[in-house]
Amino acid sequence: MSDQDAFRQSLSDRAALVEAFLDAQLSIDARDHETERSERLLAAMRHAVLNGGKRLRPFLVLEVNALLGGSDNAVLGAAAGLELVHCYSLVHDDLPSMDDDDLRRGLPTVHRKFDEATAILAGDALLTMGFDLTISGSGGLTAEHRSELVLLLARAAGQGGMVGGQMFDLSFEHGDAASDRITTIHAMKTGALIRYACEAGAVAVGGTERARMRRFGEVIGLAFQLADDLLDVTADSAAMGKATGKDAAAGKQTLVGMHGIDWARDRLDAHVAEAEALLAPFGERASVLHGAARFIANRTN
Ligand code: IPE
Ligand code: IPE
Ligand code: MG
Ligand code: MG
Ligand code: MG
Repeated sequence: MSDQDAFRQSLSDRAALVEAFLDAQLSIDARDHETERSERLLAAMRHAVLNGGKRLRPFLVLEVNALLGGSDNAVLGAAAGLELVHCYSLVHDDLPSMDDDDLRRGLPTVHRKFDEATAILAGDALLTMGFDLTISGSGGLTAEHRSELVLLLARAAGQGGMVGGQMFDLSFEHGDAASDRITTIHAMKTGALIRYACEAGAVAVGGTERARMRRFGEVIGLAFQLADDLLDVTADSAAMGKATGKDAAAGKQTLVGMHGIDWARDRLDAHVAEAEALLAPFGERASVLHGAARFIANRTN
């Protein structure tokens, strides 16, 4: 099997595992320890989550953990919890006051299907539930490892990570940013959660190869946003399941806009080469992660 085929098979198996877990967790019955529940809020949360995402971040948690000798079941809660934090970030990113998007994963965005206040609250509830599942769904991990994951997730998601990056992203929309500055914004708004995914897989087995996996996550995280900005220029909305051509229309400074498509493709190749070099010590056992790095750089959706 080629690295790409091995990756696709693994991504699809892991997506099914994570989705079944999230479907069960996002049901009225599963949360019966919470005294009052809003069906509308839960419906909006389900719309935000159970709608065909690639599930790349939970896949990375599970695959890195497996490579280092861990089991999927032990880290399923942490993997699913991260996907909830990612889904919340998309719900808020799409709001009228942010990117003002109508389409996400081929469906109406949460504020279009429900309303803006419900989308804000659904995002809030997904964020907090992400931490809940990281603790409550990772029973196979020690209390120490679970609390370390929660701390890392909080830092990756917050002011110094995704949210901080989103803030800078908005302020640079109409301004001039140097190339390095854009790379820092990418590392925060998108890279931080992807880096966390890879680091979490290592923390869950006690920290073996943690620095290497963290760097691997940083590199593929940068590639992920560069590819996203490239696809915003080159792909159509039907393939992406979201609007394209928006960055230039919004006057957003991107590396693709600044340096061009060929430069972006070369840079993506360089990111893949660095990611592959980091995996070298694992030999053949890392073939699925090799496939993942290449997929991230060459993806079409
Ligand atoms: C989209 O992430 C948002 C970015 C960080 C660019 P994905 O492309 O992983 O979105 P889904 O989860 O597959 O929908
Ligand atoms: C979003 O970047 C990154 C997030 C933290 C959600 P974009 O705004 O480019 O993501 P898309 O293109 O809407 O998925
Ligand atoms: Mg955005
Ligand atoms: Mg957006
Ligand atoms: Mg984008």
